[in-house]
Amino acid sequence: MYVDATVVDPHGTPVAGAEVDIWHSSPVGLYENQDPDQAPMNLRGKFTTDDNGRFWFRTVRMAGYPIPTDAVVGRLLKAQNRHPYRPAHLHALVFKEGFKTLISQVYCDDDPHLESDVQFGVTRALMGDFRRREEPHPSGAHGDAPWYSLAYTFHMEEGKAELPQPPID
Ligand SMILES: [Fe+2]
Repeated sequence: MYVDATVVDPHGTPVAGAEVDIWHSSPVGLYENQDPDQAPMNLRGKFTTDDNGRFWFRTVRMAGYPIPTDAVVGRLLKAQNRHPYRPAHLHALVFKEGFKTLISQVYCDDDPHLESDVQFGVTRALMGDFRRREEPHPSGAHGDAPWYSLAYTFHMEEGKAELPQPPID
């Protein structure tokens, strides 16, 4: 999957030099810290937007996953007769001085759990345009079709930029 994203301000002007942290689950729905088969920091990346507010990268399609149900949350879901699944999503944290730090998720628009996300996180604005492409990728560099594209625009609000410093208590 190829992701091509843009960061803009409230006027639609590109935000250059924004720091973007990205992380997501694997094609089987596990983050690297939950999965001994993945290398440390797999499917996590840090990017800086260019002069046009853009950043882009190649990755693999992520899958949705169930949240833990072995404690009180599991009992709550059972009492409500609800499933434990989150729809597949891409996590993003966007930081730039002069803007409120944006922590967001972009959802796969073909996921079967969009309407029933266990965390109630899905909104129309957070829907990504995941497109299956049958033609060879224009770069010609990375194998054959099919592949997926995701285009998305992150909207920042003016305000105080804050970023917690590890270790976080
Ligand atoms: Fe997640």
